[in-house]
Amino acid sequence: MAVPYFDYPTRYAGWAEDVLDAVREVGESDEFILKSRVAALEAAVAQRTGAAEAIAVASGTGALTVILTAMGIGPGDDVVTPAFSFISSASTVALRGARPVFADVDYDTAMLTAATVEAVRTTASRALVPAYLFASSPDMPALRALADRHSMRLIEDSAVALGGRVAGRPAGRYGDAGLYSFFPGKPLGGIGDAGMIVTDDPELATTCRMLRNHGQDLKVRFLHHLVGFNSRMDEVTALFLLRRLPHLDKFLTERRRLARQYNDLLREAAPVVLTPPGDLAEQAVYTYVVRAPQRDDLRSYLAGRGIETKVYYPRPLHLQPAFRHLGHGPGDFPVAERLSRECLALPLHPELPAGTVERVVEEIARFYRQGA
Ligand SMILES: Cc1ncc(COP(=O)(O)O)c(C=O)c1O
Repeated sequence: MAVPYFDYPTRYAGWAEDVLDAVREVGESDEFILKSRVAALEAAVAQRTGAAEAIAVASGTGALTVILTAMGIGPGDDVVTPAFSFISSASTVALRGARPVFADVDYDTAMLTAATVEAVRTTASRALVPAYLFASSPDMPALRALADRHSMRLIEDSAVALGGRVAGRPAGRYGDAGLYSFFPGKPLGGIGDAGMIVTDDPELATTCRMLRNHGQDLKVRFLHHLVGFNSRMDEVTALFLLRRLPHLDKFLTERRRLARQYNDLLREAAPVVLTPPGDLAEQAVYTYVVRAPQRDDLRSYLAGRGIETKVYYPRPLHLQPAFRHLGHGPGDFPVAERLSRECLALPLHPELPAGTVERVVEEIARFYRQGA
């Protein structure tokens, strides 16, 4: 039996009525974008995270763009961001005309640390953008303290981490602003692109609300105080997410259960594969990523047995052609480079059929036995 990495059709089968209801309800209303259902989702996310304000936007990337713009980050500013991350944590900085200053990450967690940030920080560093990945969280209390010490704005790229916690506080709530993505693969997962900004700063929130909708006054239409964006959420997406949000803890519990099962079985059957550190109790397990010797051969072997895997991320950001102008080369961020050679994401989602984790681990163990 084939094991797809994502299994959207199976998920859809369980949510089809909700999707169709949402389309019908919104279609029969005269509210399509940034109306009552979006406001209800904002209120629900604010309540869940304890944020004073939640601002719905079109995607996690849109959230980063709007936050950086609202903070006035631009030409002449440096922004410290991980060399190993999704492109958005750096591309949004570059699009503001600011300079992404890459920092290396910790090998076990794949996260920025206070030490790696200190190693690259410049006097022009106005902001810090730590990113959550996989089933890992940055040490946010330490990074908050570091940002305060150096008067840097802290933008918490918690795109993948809604529902997770760090030292008891919700992921996304250490930054001057945090954000969540509702891309379908994320633990909450919508039916398209969507995102959310959270902050306790009322002034920042108001600026974000204006910027997401062309910089318009929040009362008077076609009065533009700022040059803004179209980064708006639609009502169908908001209604569907409102229906899924009460189930988030259940999804996360199942994701953690599967991750722990992988951990236990892999440590026993294939100890050469390095599993995610920690007990995962506070993590919003998004992807289950191991560090594997002979990663590409293992991946081909698994594909040959019908097991689909993914590589997040095959090339670190400092070696991306898009950032060639920053002048980096191989060896600049050795941990990021090593992780991009070793990381492999195994199938993990709440719809995974029983017995799948056992089967994937068996095949991984067989691959290393054959190679030995
Ligand atoms: C760390 C990180 N930041 C930002 C984003 C961007 O979110 P979106 O895909 O909703 O634009 C992602 C998406 O995968 C991400 O993993």
